[in-house]
Amino acid sequence: MSEKRSIPKHVAIIMDGNGRWAKQRGKERHEGHIAGAEAVNAVVRGAAKAGVDYVTLYTFSTENWGRPEAEINAIMELFCYMVASRAEELAKEGVSVKIMGERTRFSEKVLSMIDQIESTTAEGKLLTLILAFNYSSRREMVFAAQELARRAVAGEIKVEDIDEQLFSDSLMTAGVPDPDLIIRTSGEYRLSNFLLWQASYSELYFPEVLWPDFSEEDFNRALDIYAGRERRFGLVTQDNVEK
Ligand code: IPE
Ligand code: IPE
Ligand code: MG
Repeated sequence: MSEKRSIPKHVAIIMDGNGRWAKQRGKERHEGHIAGAEAVNAVVRGAAKAGVDYVTLYTFSTENWGRPEAEINAIMELFCYMVASRAEELAKEGVSVKIMGERTRFSEKVLSMIDQIESTTAEGKLLTLILAFNYSSRREMVFAAQELARRAVAGEIKVEDIDEQLFSDSLMTAGVPDPDLIIRTSGEYRLSNFLLWQASYSELYFPEVLWPDFSEEDFNRALDIYAGRERRFGLVTQDNVEK
């Protein structure tokens, strides 16, 4: 592509299809999650090479606590394993990892791995990798509303001060630009409670590929598709203005 190809600053991904990938191979669901972790490495590589600044990965939704305990335990174990095996490397590569979501219901071990990955990679300047982990967009917005109400009652802000910027600044994504591109794999066409406020003007892309098969090449294809989109933000294109 030419040098003019526009690169998204922030790519958010709903990593879906691990269970179906496993089922197709006669494996257990947790094996699909293990295979899915490899695809994370491919995306981090592709994003760093392309010059993407932020990648947000939907890793575990608040609703996912309703899955069978064995599957939840396997996902938590996998998270701990990935932190233990990848934290140093990610730090060397310049990747800063942030965990976004409610810090509730996690075991002590998972909580300590969250601290470990965030502190080990804190200095990373190349790419910020945000893992949405025990994340729910609706709950995030409710917490923002509660926080703003609390501040208004305390007299720190006036009700009229509450605008889009202040609301954005009260979300878990405060300081992070809205995602330019949201990818959901596995041929499902929904957002499943992911970044609902932030997705207002995101470009959406729904490849059929199941998450464990998502490669660096698939990521680059997504960037090509993004580059070919015209983002209008409610305006009109210059060559289509009424005379
Ligand atoms: C996505 O894959 C990973 C998580 C939700 C943790 P799924 O586990 O949802 O896979 P499918 O949708 O059942 O194939
Ligand atoms: C969304 O996938 C959550 C993650 C990818 C972590 P789900 O598989 O849980 O979503 P639904 O149930 O198909 O909407
Ligand atoms: Mg799914």
